Amino acid sequence: MSTEKSAKLGSLDKEYDLPIHSGTVGPSVVDVSALYGTSGQFTYDPGFTSTASCKSSITYIDGEQGILLHRGYPIEQLAEHSTFLETCYLLLNGELPNTDEAQEFENAITQHTMLHEQMDRFFHGFRRDAHPMAIMVGVVGALSAFYHDSTDINDPEQRKIASRRLIAKIPTIAAMAYKYSIGQPFVYPRNDLDFASNFLHMCFSVPCEEMKVSPTLARAMDKIFILHADHEQNASAATVRLAGSSGANPFACMAAGIACLWGPAHGGANEAALEMLNEIGSVDRIPEYINRAKDKNDEFRLMGFGHRVYKNYDPRARVMQATCHEVLKELGITDDPILDVAMELERIALNDDYFVEKKLYPNVDFYSGIILKTMGFPTSMFTALFALARTVGWVAQWNEMIEDPSQRIGRPRQLYIGHPARDYTPINKR
Ligand code: SDX
Repeated sequence: MSTEKSAKLGSLDKEYDLPIHSGTVGPSVVDVSALYGTSGQFTYDPGFTSTASCKSSITYIDGEQGILLHRGYPIEQLAEHSTFLETCYLLLNGELPNTDEAQEFENAITQHTMLHEQMDRFFHGFRRDAHPMAIMVGVVGALSAFYHDSTDINDPEQRKIASRRLIAKIPTIAAMAYKYSIGQPFVYPRNDLDFASNFLHMCFSVPCEEMKVSPTLARAMDKIFILHADHEQNASAATVRLAGSSGANPFACMAAGIACLWGPAHGGANEAALEMLNEIGSVDRIPEYINRAKDKNDEFRLMGFGHRVYKNYDPRARVMQATCHEVLKELGITDDPILDVAMELERIALNDDYFVEKKLYPNVDFYSGIILKTMGFPTSMFTALFALARTVGWVAQWNEMIEDPSQRIGRPRQLYIGHPARDYTPINKR
């Protein structure tokens, strides 16, 4: 980060010189951290549309160009050439691993995939129809009750163990949440399977017969995990950073991230997008829904469309669409009416002035639900799969925050619009 220039902020009574910091690429920032101390005024940005909350070197997004880089590597190249575990190593360590580093990391993750045997009782405390995200929030938070030896956030070795435990155990927890919801027995992780194959095996195998995981589906699952791994300071990553800034243990912080991701405006959009496509049902009903999305008096929005940062096509959505065709072909599905609806909806929206003017494009959630449904997952599992993949991003952001020497507890201020001071009045005088 470099600081060469300064900005002048004209205020009610005087001008203030504020430093401007520049990064490697992307917008520079006006540093307002000293503004309140010198002017007695706050800045105001409720949706953080113009606010950088931290310095980071993990992920860079150029929303205008539709560019997504992880440690400088384009998401398209990682999706094409890398694996999810290699991408995890990259996000955590800043560089792609060499052969020995990759092997050590993969072995470490493999050795941490089992849960403490007593944790299965948490699942049995839920109703069978509990949403998997409710289970994920509860069980991930409960990890802090079982893994005390990796909760000291000031010990780099404990942070490393906790990070690896979270990446390794989150698939097991997600698979157990799915098995519990359908009344089938939990399936233990298998050390002879790769990360994605192991997850699919834990979800779809049963004790009664051997299950062979399709390499094509495993590759598609692995690619979907890569596409969801991290995304700069999105709402759930910002939640994890804020929780971590208080010194909370890593498991509690990730549970907070899962809770935030659950919202339909964020990670819950993949579940909402498929439900929307199912509700539309056929191509001839698309215009009705396009009109509803444009109607200010109708709260309906095209789920899986639009993005706070991308004002161009989300590069992940392009890869997701291509993966969709690969999975359908692998499963011998030549005609998927929901995919037809999705592609026609995209075509119409991208040619409609409303969407063009507001720069609304398909995002990562628009096609993912079609693939996941085709692979056999219920819509209620879609956001849990997003959380599974995003855990590495949250962990990387959390580590980066703790290792930043300038890190302090996050404590925003406010514009107060309530009552000025007033005296208490006894009830017989109200
Ligand atoms: C994710 O931040 C991340 O990086 C998130 C994520 C990640 O990897 O972590 O990329 C994952 O969360 C993707 C987004 C998934 N959400 C959805 O698909 C839900 C549908 N999309 C929207 O709700 C909305 O686009 C958001 C929440 C994604 C972005 O909201 P913003 O940036 O606050 O934009 P906005 O709501 O202010 O919308 C700007 C305008 C508004 O119209 P005006 O009030 O200016 O007239 O665009 C309209 C909105 O009404 N608009 C839409 C729309 N999205 C925005 N109109 C119809 N359909 C939509 N989907």
